[in-house]
Amino acid sequence: MIIPFFSFDYYDKIRKEVLDSISRVFDSKQYVLGENILKFEKKYSQLNKIKNAIGVSSGLDALIICLRALKIGKDDEVIVASNAYIACWLAISNVGAKIIPVEPNEKTFNIDASKIEKKITKKTKAIMPVHLYGQPCQMDEIMKIANKNNLYVIEDNAQAHLSKFNNQYTGTFGNINATSFYPTKNLGAMGEAGCVTTNDVYLGEFSKAYRNYGYTKKYECKIIGRNFRIDEIQASILNVKIKYLKKLNQERIFLAKIYDENLNSVLNIKIPYKDPNCVHVYHLYVIRTNRRDELKKYLYDNGIETSIHYPIPPHLQLAYKYLGYKKGDFPIAEEISETSLSLPLYPGLKKKDILFICKKILNFFN
Ligand SMILES: Cc1ncc(COP(=O)(O)O)c(C=O)c1O
Repeated sequence: MIIPFFSFDYYDKIRKEVLDSISRVFDSKQYVLGENILKFEKKYSQLNKIKNAIGVSSGLDALIICLRALKIGKDDEVIVASNAYIACWLAISNVGAKIIPVEPNEKTFNIDASKIEKKITKKTKAIMPVHLYGQPCQMDEIMKIANKNNLYVIEDNAQAHLSKFNNQYTGTFGNINATSFYPTKNLGAMGEAGCVTTNDVYLGEFSKAYRNYGYTKKYECKIIGRNFRIDEIQASILNVKIKYLKKLNQERIFLAKIYDENLNSVLNIKIPYKDPNCVHVYHLYVIRTNRRDELKKYLYDNGIETSIHYPIPPHLQLAYKYLGYKKGDFPIAEEISETSLSLPLYPGLKKKDILFICKKILNFFN
């Protein structure tokens, strides 16, 4: 028996609905920025209780739009977690701004709000909190710091669709926020897609124009934009899948609880921290252990696939060599990358599979 790290098998349950929606796009002969995207933007903004959702080509492109909309570029600084997903760092670099890494909180994996203020300078324009693995950042503290210091907030909600901090959905706190619908996300398309969310009318209008060459009307170009459009097939699939998001998140939470209950007492493992003020939607179930590589191999030998998110922290990536960082500069981010192990968790995974994985983990440590 092999338990894969991730599986799309649950798609079989919505096969007909998805294929029907794709077939309607085929017949409509409108393949980009049509009715399906308008429908999705409305549904997504209503579901998240935010005024504007703007569908775009990917999560990275959504982050770039957020930065562009806030006129962040050369000579500006953006604060982001040292262990953030690489796309956050890439977005900041892509607009020519300077990345200011802040170490994460060891328990939550998210940016440590208590370390942000020390990094603020006259050039700081924004804080980019990333709700890693589905766990919300400390949004009350982050918003307080941003308001006090006149900074923008751009949330990266790619891994946290419908997670909540203090009863408010993540992706609705910032001035403008980004998310990804990469296929494996809690809400995933079947190709590339992403979204920008904002309550601000101007930022919403800017994003809409920017994704489509800068057009405000057909062939009327007001700003220098990009082609960050989303296609109708992806939007039609998202219209089907969004109906199941809450249910599928509940399934993830249920599965995570089984892991928690069975791994809680294993001394050599840290299970994911669950903040009582938050709803964690478990995009990933990430444990930490000093014997990570040995455990990974042992599980693999026992038919269990696992993954590592992420094996190289951004400051040690070759692309960022020019920044001059070295090993030891961000010890918490480095420790997380050396000790984290993501266990299988996805809709359709069976309770008995999780119990089997937990049994093998217990055997390993005993
Ligand atoms: C936290 C985070 N930010 C941004 C992205 C980028 O999204 P995309 O792959 O759609 O460009 C991802 C996707 O993996 C992500 O997990």
